[in-house]
Amino acid sequence: MQASNKNVSAAGDWVEVGKLDDIPQLGARVVRASGGDIAVFRTADDEVFALRDKCPHKGGPLSQGIVHGKRVACPLHDWKIQLDSGEAVAPDEGCAASFPVRVEDGTIYLSLTPNEGCPNK
Ligand code: FES
Repeated sequence: MQASNKNVSAAGDWVEVGKLDDIPQLGARVVRASGGDIAVFRTADDEVFALRDKCPHKGGPLSQGIVHGKRVACPLHDWKIQLDSGEAVAPDEGCAASFPVRVEDGTIYLSLTPNEGCPNK
């Protein structure tokens, strides 16, 4: 399937995470990256998002949190983090870096270059 991988190699820093079906709905998978772990989430609507696996509060593992809608609740102190932006939901303040993800032919690809708008913690 060379065609489906073309864009991935062209972009340089895209990595294959695995099949969408390998992640249960409302679940997450951790990708080990040199800059720190990245949590890849699957929502109930089969959307996929990626955040640094480190809560902006005190570094809790967001990959072990509860996904609801487009948010994940940190397992440590229940801050809610927006999956699309990585920002904490008010009244809490902070941001976890978010990363581009896409699904092609049922396979998830993740960019290791974080989106702008949030410090890469
Ligand atoms: S470490 Fe995530 S809410 Fe405190």
